[in-house]
Amino acid sequence: MEKLIGIACDHAGYKLKEKVKAYLQQEGYSVKDFGTNSEESVDYPVFAHQLASKINSGELPRGIVICGTGNGVNMVANKYPHVRSALCWKPEIATLARQHNNANILALPARFIEEDLAMETLKAYLTTDFEGGRHERRVNLIPIQ
Ligand code: RB5
Repeated sequence: MEKLIGIACDHAGYKLKEKVKAYLQQEGYSVKDFGTNSEESVDYPVFAHQLASKINSGELPRGIVICGTGNGVNMVANKYPHVRSALCWKPEIATLARQHNNANILALPARFIEEDLAMETLKAYLTTDFEGGRHERRVNLIPIQ
């Protein structure tokens, strides 16, 4: 997998976004950061759209979105036909989101996950491959026909 990744958040996700970004850079990823860049209140769709549209077009292979619950950014991302965004709060869910759902965006709930657990969840997402096979058939059935 290409070491290129996008990241976006709102004010509730800002601190975790900075931590995630530092880890990604340390691991040799080229990180495209769509903001936000402070804890000043903003509207999460603005930032999630910027990232998700780049995943949808194929300009970025993978991404991470973060807000307070993870739900708002996840909902925005999944509006795009080529995006499969998975809300994950523990490593096992992130592993399965990759193995079974070929998730190309990880959504993290900054206000409802301890930082260490968020980082373990991130690592699981980054290091797990899609299993294909029967899961490929199912993933291909996700879009509205
Ligand atoms: C911001 O207060 C909060 O609503 C946002 O971070 C997110 O949880 C929305 O889904």
